[in-house]
Amino acid sequence: MTTNPLKTIRAGMVGMGMIFDETYRPFFETARAEGLYDRKFGDVSVELSAVATRTGKRAEAYRNRAGDAIHSFESFSGEDSVDQMLAANLDFACVATPDNRHFEASKKVLEAGTNLLVEKPSVLRLQELDELQRIAEEKNVLAKVVYHKLLDPDHKKMRTLVADGVLQHVNTGYCSLLEPKSISGGQFAEWIRGRNPGTYVAVHYIKLIDFSFGGKLKTITASGQRGLVGPADGNTWDSNQMKMVYEYDDGREAAFDIHTSWVTPDNFPGYVEQEVQFRFDNGLWNGHSRKRGVEATVEDLTPFKMKNSINNHYNGEFLEPWGQRSQRGYGIEVIERYAREVAYLEHGGPKEERPIRLGELRSLSYNDVSADRQTVAAVQALEAILEKAAAGEPDCTVRVNCQHGGLVLYRPGSSEYEILYEGTV
Ligand SMILES: NC(=O)c1ccc[n+]([C@@H]2O[C@H](COP(=O)([O-])OP(=O)(O)OC[C@H]3O[C@@H](n4cnc5c(N)ncnc54)[C@H](O)[C@@H]3O)[C@@H](O)[C@H]2O)c1
Repeated sequence: MTTNPLKTIRAGMVGMGMIFDETYRPFFETARAEGLYDRKFGDVSVELSAVATRTGKRAEAYRNRAGDAIHSFESFSGEDSVDQMLAANLDFACVATPDNRHFEASKKVLEAGTNLLVEKPSVLRLQELDELQRIAEEKNVLAKVVYHKLLDPDHKKMRTLVADGVLQHVNTGYCSLLEPKSISGGQFAEWIRGRNPGTYVAVHYIKLIDFSFGGKLKTITASGQRGLVGPADGNTWDSNQMKMVYEYDDGREAAFDIHTSWVTPDNFPGYVEQEVQFRFDNGLWNGHSRKRGVEATVEDLTPFKMKNSINNHYNGEFLEPWGQRSQRGYGIEVIERYAREVAYLEHGGPKEERPIRLGELRSLSYNDVSADRQTVAAVQALEAILEKAAAGEPDCTVRVNCQHGGLVLYRPGSSEYEILYEGTV
């Protein structure tokens, strides 16, 4: 391995679960072997220097498994693990804890003056987003969110056609992402109580819609089913359907439905079922992420150990034509992009010009927390509507920037309303 000891970015990792293994791990391993190079910042080494997890077990298992594939890292566990990790003089830290535990760790990262990369959804409430944004500005660091579906080549193509005016004015959209039962029953069983698949996965499409079409979010409604993951009258959801209405500059509206589930049978032919349909004034875009080309059957392997249809665009292990083993895809590319942003910020020119570089990077709306407001608003609305439904008050509606506040929940048949967020979304 060749490294330039003068230019190194040191990284921290909070949470080492499924998504660490799928995307962060291959990124850090490849970056250790190859570094990052760009004419703007030169040859930069990336080191995974410290990690924080609840028990430390996964960190130790990974350390043993990875051997020399990863830089030697300090591992902290327990209550103050994030604080201890942050004492390791890091340039950036990634937060990949369960959805409802992003805020606390992210706040600590920013308060320590460390650049942040947090998994989607960034946070569950606009009040928390405000706080992260405020601290990031005060400490002059980046606060960024991972939305890898924005880097899916199919979604990039659709957005390009919209940006170029080939597809004109979106009218309606339908998106669906169905996860297998093994996710709710195994992988997430430990923290799934009181949670819903909407926040976890619909947020990918909320962001795709928000980022691709712009406009102003107006209204959110939602429903769902219970009884498999938890009791039929409880607050843990099997599946959810949400609707968002947007308004555009010309006063016209579009409506989007997003359906999610984490109780699809495990013998399903793909890892997840994902499709989108968007209708425009002059066209139609249909995308199916599972059916985009491959269907393989292998005795004794499919469909449990290996799936029939594989999303080789998101993340795949490959034997490259030149003999090298690799793991790549847009799920990993999105993390590399962020590391390149940090390398550019910290090593891309004179220190006095760092504020200019910081401003440039903050203006990237695909991942900056300042551009996550409508996405977090939709998530906050969804969570509030589901909470009311679980408490026996279904069919509430949340309106955005209306006469009573920034995010306001209305009950059917009642003049009472609840302000979820006072400020403008
Ligand atoms: N980008 C994607 O498509 C994608 C896919 C899966 C998950 N995710 C996101 O990644 C996050 C994690 O999901 P996952 O699938 O890896 O979950 P997981 O349950 O597999 O792993 C969670 C990890 O967080 C650790 N953890 C929990 N509480 C902690 C705390 N307070 N401090 C430190 N560590 C803590 C756990 O020990 C575990 O290592 C979620 O926000 C999820 O939405 C993103």
